[in-house]
Amino acid sequence: MTINSIELKLVALLEEASWPWRLPSLATLSADGPQQRSLVLRRFNPKKWELVFFTDFRSTKIKELQKDPRASLHFYDSEKQLQLRLKGIINIEHQSPASREALAEIPIDRRGDYQSGLAPGEVLSDISETSGTKAEANFALLRFQTKSLDYLEINRVGHRRLKAEYIVEAWTNWTIIQA
Ligand SMILES: Cc1cc2nc3c(=O)[nH]c(=O)nc-3n(C[C@H](O)[C@H](O)[C@H](O)COP(=O)(O)O)c2cc1C
Repeated sequence: MTINSIELKLVALLEEASWPWRLPSLATLSADGPQQRSLVLRRFNPKKWELVFFTDFRSTKIKELQKDPRASLHFYDSEKQLQLRLKGIINIEHQSPASREALAEIPIDRRGDYQSGLAPGEVLSDISETSGTKAEANFALLRFQTKSLDYLEINRVGHRRLKAEYIVEAWTNWTIIQA
């Protein structure tokens, strides 16, 4: 096992982003402690190890990330018996050229998540409150910049685990460690 062989495998899985690689869990830090939620992986740039997600600018995760941009992603592939944990920093893009471009690619009839007059987490007291606001005001793009990985292969013969850091667009300081 080397970082090169692991990277080749992971890049293929993340570029394809089919189930379960399409739906990682994103952890952030809140005043209450860690928070996790599932998010759809929208894009992966293997040159920068940057992962892109879409969300609602009014959501709790945005407030948490504005306070502390550190985040972690967790992927688990039960068929391949692989676990990937990435640590990184999230950059929020709201009403930027890139976020407008991403929103424009979403078909109008599928922008409903970002068009509700209520923010995610607000109590639904009156169904009429759920229409109106423009998607552009609510849509945000999250850019996760990978800083390190922790990769684990579960194997009957012996588990294998590797840790590495991503610095200046290259994997470095990789070590095979106890699983
Ligand atoms: C299958 C599935 C896919 C989801 N995809 C997204 C997504 O792409 N973006 C998003 O913001 N929330 C998505 N969610 C909802 C989040 O898990 C979460 O409930 C929501 O974003 C509110 O999180 P927050 O209160 O921590 O901000 C998804 C949930 C599920 C179950």
